[in-house]
Amino acid sequence: MVKICCIGAGYVGGPTMAVIALKCPDIQVTVVDISSQRINGWNSDHLPIYEPGLDEVVKKCRGKNLFFSVEVEKHVAEADIVFVSVNTPTKTHGLGAGKAADLTYWESAARMIADVSKSDKIVVEKSTVPVKTAEAIERILTHNRKGTNFTILSNPEFLAEGTAIQDLFNPDRVLIGGRETPAGQKAIKTLRDVYANWVPMEKIICTNLWSAELSKLAANAFLAQRISSVNAMSALCEATGADVSEVSHSIGTDSRIGPKFLNASVGFGGSCFQKDILNLVYICECNGLPEVANYWKQVIKVNDYQKSRFVNRVVSSMFNTVSTKKIAILGFAFKKDTGDTRETPAIDVCKGLLGDKARLSIYDPQVTEDQITKDLSMRKFDKDHPAHLQPPSPTSIKQVSVVWDAYEAVKDAHGVCIMTEWDEFKKLDYQKVYDSMQKPAFVFDGRNVVDVGVLRKIGFIVYSIGKPLDPWLKDMPAVA
Ligand code: NAI
Repeated sequence: MVKICCIGAGYVGGPTMAVIALKCPDIQVTVVDISSQRINGWNSDHLPIYEPGLDEVVKKCRGKNLFFSVEVEKHVAEADIVFVSVNTPTKTHGLGAGKAADLTYWESAARMIADVSKSDKIVVEKSTVPVKTAEAIERILTHNRKGTNFTILSNPEFLAEGTAIQDLFNPDRVLIGGRETPAGQKAIKTLRDVYANWVPMEKIICTNLWSAELSKLAANAFLAQRISSVNAMSALCEATGADVSEVSHSIGTDSRIGPKFLNASVGFGGSCFQKDILNLVYICECNGLPEVANYWKQVIKVNDYQKSRFVNRVVSSMFNTVSTKKIAILGFAFKKDTGDTRETPAIDVCKGLLGDKARLSIYDPQVTEDQITKDLSMRKFDKDHPAHLQPPSPTSIKQVSVVWDAYEAVKDAHGVCIMTEWDEFKKLDYQKVYDSMQKPAFVFDGRNVVDVGVLRKIGFIVYSIGKPLDPWLKDMPAVA
């Protein structure tokens, strides 16, 4: 029986390995992590991450050919294929701070693999890493090995949180990069055979190592660029009376552009887009390509602009101050169908409103109070000036309450900000919401989920990103 071990039981390692176990009953899959809390979660009825369909997959395989363990070294030693799916966050200090990927976790995993291995192994980069990382990892592995051979592959993951299981069952493609040596090609075939259990051969793309590593960064940069492009258009729509949904639809019907990823919003979030673009920017700078670096940096700047534009719109609409006013925040996760709050635009929006001394009542169906408090207490990293960190604001957190019902959040509120496109926010009884709020009652829809016409008829003053402005908002000072 082929044995797979995956280091890192996170948003990628957990679901990816669960699906491999489901689709490959002849393979034994063990997911290991240094965090016993995470592993205990995977072994319990309350999985550590929320992902539609994940529970069923895990229940079907756990204890049969899928295992979760903290015995990292033991399972790595026994495996034929070792996936490394550890976190690769942005460096917060030292060389490349604020841009470069922090490969500390990856390096320590690689050293441990070399240390404990007694048989040859294929080591698979599942984490998103800078192009050329495989070269560094190869060096670490070969310089520390104890008579064993390692072949390194790049197999970046393209799943999206919220649709991870669907994406893994039916991926657009699986990408495998390897060395053009006989050993490299043999390893590619071994991994290709694993995916071939359920992925059609024509969807399995095999490339050299560097193309695979760079393709992941490029894919995320292109996806984020589309969001920033449509968000940039949304600002122009508001200034001119065009409707961004109509513009998106019109341009999306062009088959060269396509309809996906054209929804205007308060901005993108999630653990990957920003970090991977910053990483790309750093790589370009290191390769003497400042123009290319600046091009991609702009995608992040537009995203930051979109978030501050939203905060400015809220404050200026509400008579230029939200001080002591209650504002309901509906949704905190960075997108629907996940509880993940990493880099969620809600953090920056909430901090902006707290900066103007608003009182916030936050509701998200999948995010705990503990997580929200942690996110709002964390100091923000200044990407442009890494040495300077914003000071924490211990008092402002007292202005935040987290509730477990949307109607509770909006009660007596002056305004509602929709931060996540959870389906339930489309179906709220907005008449009931209106009746329970202070007047004039404002809705600021950061995800374009509400029917603006219906809400205006009820009596709300509505701001929806990129839509023709409410007459009320037109009279307010311009938003920069
Ligand atoms: P995560 O933070 O949820 O999980 C990483 C896990 O690795 C943590 O549980 C941590 O305890 C564990 N870990 C770190 N060092 C370890 C070590 N030496 N030994 C054992 N366990 C260790 O991260 P996530 O979101 O799963 O991301 C992992 C990688 O996949 C990142 O490089 C990310 O960029 C990439 N990725 C993430 C996607 C996402 O949607 N979250 C999608 C595609 C790629």
